Amino acid sequence: MRIDVFTIFPAIFDSPLREGLLGKAIEGGILEVLVHDIRDFGRGKHRQVDDAPFGGGAGMVMKPEPVFEAVTSSLGYGLDELERLREEVEVVMLTPRGERLDQRKVADMAALPHLALICGRYEGIDERVLEHLCTSALSVGDYVLSGGEFAALVLIDAVARLLPGVVGNRESLEEESFSGGMLEYPQYTRPAEYLGWRVPEVLLSGDHGAVERWRREAARAYTERVRPDLLGSESAGGSGKEKN
Ligand code: ADE
Repeated sequence: MRIDVFTIFPAIFDSPLREGLLGKAIEGGILEVLVHDIRDFGRGKHRQVDDAPFGGGAGMVMKPEPVFEAVTSSLGYGLDELERLREEVEVVMLTPRGERLDQRKVADMAALPHLALICGRYEGIDERVLEHLCTSALSVGDYVLSGGEFAALVLIDAVARLLPGVVGNRESLEEESFSGGMLEYPQYTRPAEYLGWRVPEVLLSGDHGAVERWRREAARAYTERVRPDLLGSESAGGSGKEKN
């Protein structure tokens, strides 16, 4: 899978793309991430990428031209080929005004061959970018970040671990949180007793059926306490296994 990222702060992506599971996916050639600096397409001596909002108001708005030109020229399309670009590439704007990301949307994205992620900054991006360049807009949650860069990293990380060959144990994808609309059951490891707190006895019993039943009930009880909105809804479900 290929992901192109468009940002005015490309250095933010340096170490997250080198470390851990993401670093391995990229090193192993399963995922290719190309980070592009929108400022390379800025206007004038100062390579300006923002301007005051029409109609007045606080803050600055990202200009459309550097964003359109960064995306089209980096991906090898003309400005007169936006329709074909949008057919061939999922162009996602990261913005708190987007649809909220969940595991199902992550799985949908992981099944695509080519994503382009546009990271907004300032007070926003000229709406023509969303209307005529992007194919979707995603938010990582109902809070406001200083820009879309960290949201893009969240999406890249969540997508990468669903790509075949990235997470070694496919079972762990099937059992993890949000699969089947529930949070994951609690996990324990050695020592069986720490500071007087014992691990649930059933987990030491060797009775796989009993362990399975305990985990299912523990997951349900925990989800009911922490995220009752997930129970009875399939909206967060899907590990993506059916797509890979
Ligand atoms: N940019 C700023 N806040 C954001 C959010 N919550 N999700 C995605 N992009 C953002």
